[in-house]
Amino acid sequence: AFETKTLLSATGKVTLDPGFANTAACQSKITYIDGEAGILRYRGYPIEELAAHSSFLEVSYLVIHGELPDSGQLKEFSEQLRANAALPAEMRAMLDAFPRDAHPMTLLASAVNTMAAFYADTVDPKDSEQVDRATILLLAKLPTIAAHIYRNSVGQPPLEPDDSLGYVEDFLRMTFGGLSGESELDALFVRAMDLLLILHADHEQNCSTATVRVVGSSQASLYGSVSAGVNALFGPLHGGANQAVLEMLEEIRDLGGDVDSYLAKVKDKESKTRLMGFGHRVYKNYDPRSKEIKGLAAQILDRQAEPDELFELALRLEAKALADPYFTDRKLYPNVDFYSGVIYRAMGFPTSMFTVLFALGRLPGWIAHWREQRLDPAARIARPRQLYTGHAKRSYSGS
Ligand code: ACO
Repeated sequence: AFETKTLLSATGKVTLDPGFANTAACQSKITYIDGEAGILRYRGYPIEELAAHSSFLEVSYLVIHGELPDSGQLKEFSEQLRANAALPAEMRAMLDAFPRDAHPMTLLASAVNTMAAFYADTVDPKDSEQVDRATILLLAKLPTIAAHIYRNSVGQPPLEPDDSLGYVEDFLRMTFGGLSGESELDALFVRAMDLLLILHADHEQNCSTATVRVVGSSQASLYGSVSAGVNALFGPLHGGANQAVLEMLEEIRDLGGDVDSYLAKVKDKESKTRLMGFGHRVYKNYDPRSKEIKGLAAQILDRQAEPDELFELALRLEAKALADPYFTDRKLYPNVDFYSGVIYRAMGFPTSMFTVLFALGRLPGWIAHWREQRLDPAARIARPRQLYTGHAKRSYSGS
């Protein structure tokens, strides 16, 4: 076998960098992260300020177009999204044809991909008007698709969008039916959902966004690239972690709530068990999104008649982990997924929908990166190198 660790090629020195931990594949103006300091900004605006003052639609516009919209731009953007929320009958029939117990993320990726078939006049990445149209269609329809998938999965008839309602409010109504928006709790849920979407809107070169860029670099359509991003997000080490966190909390609860022995199992490398919702490639400090989400979870669960067992368990797990050198030495802190699941659960979402909610939030980020790359004169087709470690030349006839 070749023992090569580096390769000198015509284009320079090739470096082995598993997981691209130290490789920048592009320049970007969208999101700034300082992982050591726990800072996250979209287009220069701190995530905490956006969380306190803005809406998901405003943030989507900001992330995609680079500036906050003025009131006229926001109104037009919102109207465009509401006017395009309905799905064509053929697309609804296609979603209805999938097995009802299929995972919602599989259906979501498929539905996004088939938008290239239903809207074939919006697939050309070289045509700015088509790209703008595809941007609106994706943002407008993803909540309707997600709600349709959910309703089918629980054996209830899917609901049509109501364009008199706001983007997030209508998504919750299409999902759960009779959400009135009038009670205090409903209003809090709408705000909580909006806030969670804001906090997920972009996170620079995470696995799914990098995937969207890699696929887009071959000049594939926005739909095809975003569909690939949805599949990348599905994995348990990425967006699938929010589902895995809830499953982990349920497992600990079912074993009598013994946090210490679960942490002991995590620390035993042989067990191959990770503390889900902990750790991050970039954050080596408290994830600023997790801080916001933890506060929101406390606010929502406070209003429930009974204390939430899983939230209590999550708080205990965090406190124990952050007092343990295994976690502090490795700079492992709660990430965005650690507390989001308990909120989704309180809203009534099954765990299988959690990653779909992440996808709804991340959509503007995927679109923004795809569009930025499209206009980047330095962008080239993504094509990493490798260091070959297989057999040297062998002869077929030789024994
Ligand atoms: N629990 C226990 N140990 C962990 C964890 C964890 N969650 N995360 C990392 N470690 C340990 C590793 O075992 C390793 O220890 P070692 O140095 O003794 O070998 C060290 O910390 C570094 O871990 P890596 O796997 O090298 O870190 P990497 O940057 O490759 O992985 C990741 C980051 C995938 C997020 C990892 O922390 C993880 O698996 N976390 C759990 C899954 C999760 O929550 N994912 C969501 C991420 S955020 C997002 O996608 C939205």
